[in-house]
Order: sequence, then C-alpha cells, then structure tokens
Amino acid sequence: MPTTASRRQFPTDFLFGAAASAYQIEGAAHEDGRTDSIWDAFSRVPGAVVGMENGDVACDHYHRYRDDVKLMADLGLDSYRFSTSWARVCPDGGPVNPAGIDFYSRLVDELLEHGILPWLTLYHWDLPQALEDQGGWPARDTAYRFVDYALAVHDALGDRVSNWTTLNEPWCASFLSYIGGEHAPGRQDPAAGLAAGHHLLLGHGLVIEELRRRDPELSLGITLNLTVADPVNPEDPADVDAARRIDGQFNRFFLDPIFRGSYPADLLADVAHLGFDEVVHPGDLATIAAPIDLLGVNYYHGELVGGHPPTGATMTTQAPSERPKRSPFPAAENVHWHLRDLPLTAMQWEVQPEGLTRLLRRVHDEYTGPAGTVLAVTENGAAYDDVVAEDGAIPDDDRVAFLEDHLEAILDAIDEGVPVRGYFYWSLMDNFEWAWGYDKRFGIVRVDYATQERTLKDSALAYRAIIADRAL
Ligand code: NOJ
Repeated sequence: MPTTASRRQFPTDFLFGAAASAYQIEGAAHEDGRTDSIWDAFSRVPGAVVGMENGDVACDHYHRYRDDVKLMADLGLDSYRFSTSWARVCPDGGPVNPAGIDFYSRLVDELLEHGILPWLTLYHWDLPQALEDQGGWPARDTAYRFVDYALAVHDALGDRVSNWTTLNEPWCASFLSYIGGEHAPGRQDPAAGLAAGHHLLLGHGLVIEELRRRDPELSLGITLNLTVADPVNPEDPADVDAARRIDGQFNRFFLDPIFRGSYPADLLADVAHLGFDEVVHPGDLATIAAPIDLLGVNYYHGELVGGHPPTGATMTTQAPSERPKRSPFPAAENVHWHLRDLPLTAMQWEVQPEGLTRLLRRVHDEYTGPAGTVLAVTENGAAYDDVVAEDGAIPDDDRVAFLEDHLEAILDAIDEGVPVRGYFYWSLMDNFEWAWGYDKRFGIVRVDYATQERTLKDSALAYRAIIADRAL
C-alpha cells in the first residue's frame, strides 16, 4: 500500500456507487399487480435464456430491499443506481398501479434515510409485453407511452429524486433486441431495429423536455454503452471501415443526434435501403437534442476489429457476446474481431482499462464538453467464476484488480480535464445476466440463490476501503 501522500485522491464531490436494474434483481414478478414485461415473455421461449432461467425470483430484492440498502450503507456507497419497472408501475402500459409505485417510494425513502443518493433509470429494457404486442419500440406510439410512464414516476418520486436517467443502453434495447434477436423481444428485423433505436431516442428527448419543464433543478441524462473500436491496421482501408461501422452503430448513432441533432451521414448512407428516412419525422431531431446535464457511460471493453478474417498466428475470436451478429450497418459479414494479448473475463470480454480513459476523453472533446454536459461512468464491472473458500471468503482478486484499474483510468481522465462526476460498479450483487441467466456473476456481493444469502466478496471489501479513503 503506497503512503497516503503518494496515493491518488478523487475529487471530494466524486460519487462512488453501484448499479443494478429492476428485472435483474427484484423478483416478485407476479406480485402487487405487476404484469409481464418483454423479459418475462422472452424467458419462456425455449433457448432464449441459458437454462430457461428467468427473473421470477432473482435476488428477491423486492422483499429484501431494506437489508440490501443496509448493505450499501455498510459499503459506504454515496449513490445507488437502480431502475423502475414499467410493468410494475403501469401494468400493461396502462394506468398507474399504486402498489407498484409504492415499492419505489419506499426504496427511495430507505436510501435517503441511509444518506445514499438515489440515481433513477426509467427504462432498463423491461417494456410491458402488452406494449410489445401493440408494436413495441418499432412503433412510434411507444415513445409517447414512455412519456406517460415517466411522468407517473416523476409524480410520485420527483420530490425526493433529483438524478434522472431516461434510458439504459438504447443500443441493446434496439439493435440487440430487434435485430440481433438475442435480447427480448427476440426479433430479427433490421428495419424494425432501426425504428426502435429512433423511437427510444425520441422517447428520451420527449421525457427530457417534460421533466425540464416541470423542474429545472433536476439533473437529467441518458446512459449509453459506448466502445473504443480500434482497426487492426490503421493503414488498411478495410480495417478502418470495420472500425468506422462499429464506432458508428455503438457510439455515433446515439451521440450525434443527442449532441448534434443529426444522424451521421455515413450511417444514413449504410441504411438508405431500409426506409429509415420515413421513420424520422420533422422536429424529432430537435427533441432528441434537448440539452442534458449528464451523460452516463457504460464501459466494459473496447475492441480490435478488421475487415479481414484473422490468419496465421493472429489470435482470433468470435464477436464478444452482445456484439452484432446481425446489424443494419453490415457488420456480421465483414467485421472481424481480433483478440489482443489481454486478460479475458468470464464473458470473454477483454480487460482494457486504458480504453476507458480514451473513451471519456473523446466523448468529452467531441460531444459533451462543447455542450457543457458532465460525465459519469454508470456501469463498469466484470463477471468471473468466483470460488467460495473454505472459510467462506470470496477471494476475487481478478475483480479487485479490474475495479482498481478502471478507477485508475478514470483518475487519468480527470487529470486530463474530463469532468467525470461518479463511478457505479456493475453490479452491487450477482444477478440475472439476461440471456446468460444466473451463470455470470458480476457482483461485488455474492448471492447464494438457494438461500438468498448475501456475502461480501473481497472486491466489496476493497471498494469499501477505497470509498472510505476516497483514494487509490
Ligand atoms: C449492461 C447492462 O446495462 C446490464 O443490465 C448488464 O447486466 C451489464 N451490462 C453486464 O452485461
């Protein structure tokens, strides 16, 4: 351990947090009036989720939230990032369910009583199935239904919650879900996926405008899953083009309309045959570009991509999971992923902390800085095959290193002048990892699903020490 003097301090107002989402932890899927979301329905499709697992019980957080908040307080968290479930608050996308919204009201009170700042996300992928049956996100009307739901949540919690995030990772909620078919609702239709992407962004902009009108003091934002796509050979046009398309669909498809009020011309050209022009109505882009206070960045890894299949001694890999096997911006056919000499997590994702520094700096320089928007890392974390030692400890050294290295990367960005206001480790506890079920454990707290017992892993102890010192 370096001496105090040689340790790197975080800014005094930096928020240390952890994140989770409704469907992944709450359980109580059929209680107090909650109806199906697309993830309840998708989980019943054979082959959709590993082991046919689902969120019916998950971490039973719905019943154990008080203990979970105690755990957060015990770790010293400044903030907790969670999402509200649309199907719990507005079952079937209809009128407000008092019992459903009351759960979040109690959760917020509990957080505030423990001095933890609630960081609320309105949409973390769990669209009411009834709205999917009416067309889902490819239907324009869903954006307006989203506003109704968002305002209902604000009616109930706006007096106590000041940090509002509209969407979590719209790339996943559109392209991965409506084109890749790997996430709910499991559709495989490029035109529908593009329309979903646009309508998610429209819903975001509409909600920002409404919340801003209601209360100019709120901190409003969106969370994107962004990446750093490096070409294998920067001199090879095919490699550069592969990197352009990956950067385009993950980063620029979302950042450009939000911060510049337009979709990137190269991407529009790539999808000209899919009728995207007709989806974008006059005035939409101005709405999507409504100013935001904070951009949430979810970063797990970057990628090395090329236009040619790897040959000879070059290590190769499949696209990491959650990478486009199908895409509107022709990717599967002519983007090839290459492995570097980097460690891999249990998701087979490369551990690349320096990518986070580069990403934050680039987003600040090109998008958020000029707009006066600050940044927070709203997710970053790693799944590992944790082993419980005989004494009950969980020595997850790889996760401790992951956490420290990424916090270090954030300090590097801050040193370079990037305003990063907080860090939320994903996730507070092991949970339902979507199509992977319960197999992949991201938590700093272990969940024994048979007993619902929570145990702090060594990474939780390490995080607690960092938070206590506010230094690395
Ligand atoms: C992104 C998502 O927001 C979260 O729900 C997921 O569990 C993590 N990444 C890990 O894949």
